[in-house]
Amino acid sequence: MKGPLDLSPDEHPSQNSAGVSQPILETARSMAKKSSGRGQRDLKVKVKSARGRKLSSTRWLERQLNDPYVRRAKVEGYRGRAAFKILELDDKYGFLKPGDRVVDLGCAPGGWCQVAVARVNALGDNSGQQGSVLGIDLQAVEPIPGADLHQLDFMEDGADEKVKAWLGGTADVVMSDMAAASSGHKQTDHLRIVALCEAAAEFAFDVLEPGGTFVAKVLAGGAETSLQTLLKQRFDKVANVKPPASRSNSSEKFVVATGFRG
Ligand SMILES: C[S@@+](CC[C@H](N)C(=O)[O-])C[C@H]1O[C@@H](n2cnc3c(N)ncnc32)[C@H](O)[C@@H]1O
Repeated sequence: MKGPLDLSPDEHPSQNSAGVSQPILETARSMAKKSSGRGQRDLKVKVKSARGRKLSSTRWLERQLNDPYVRRAKVEGYRGRAAFKILELDDKYGFLKPGDRVVDLGCAPGGWCQVAVARVNALGDNSGQQGSVLGIDLQAVEPIPGADLHQLDFMEDGADEKVKAWLGGTADVVMSDMAAASSGHKQTDHLRIVALCEAAAEFAFDVLEPGGTFVAKVLAGGAETSLQTLLKQRFDKVANVKPPASRSNSSEKFVVATGFRG
């Protein structure tokens, strides 16, 4: 029997060649206006505990089934709920424009890339200028039409040079959703993510065009202030944002630095 999340492909709305449903620009914008998604938490599916399933797995399943962003991602053809975070950030700051060249660091499974492909017109299927999307991740990523994807550890020696060679020029947007697997120790996770962020920022300083944008995920915890100081020296504006799609019980937030000064 089909569950609420088991939509067959033909039950999906029409999709463009990037695999994203056609009305994404409109739906994302209207979603940001009409509903954060949090307001829709009246679904409330209860999952019974089962022999052989840990309580934490039961809770995870229940959270997934009751998460409106998980459902929307499925219906709108995104690879994960993370897509809505970049949609909401871009709705607020408008950094993904047709013709832009985007680098997406830590892109698996590919939700941010799908959003970027559509918004920068990387497939050239809209009348505006055609942009490009380059994604890298530790893990292999299923192909996304319009995105150039590479498997790479961004922290290994010489990684930034490899990414620059694939990029073959400058970028308008560098975004990083990189996060190391959780160690279970909050401060260790925090320091690791700050290190990933700083590496992403150094890369952005090398490749961004003047006026460009840097977006990165950080975890609240204190050490991110040095990153803020660094970014404020190079960008006109640096904002700390928690988009509605970011779970309220998570310490993640995003820095959005706009107006790269070079
Ligand atoms: C939260 S996920 C990104 C989700 C993605 N934005 C999306 O929309 O599908 C974080 C990703 O960062 C990647 N990552 C962590 N450390 C990395 C590293 N050193 N180099 C490259 N990718 C890394 C992980 O493999 C993981 O896929």
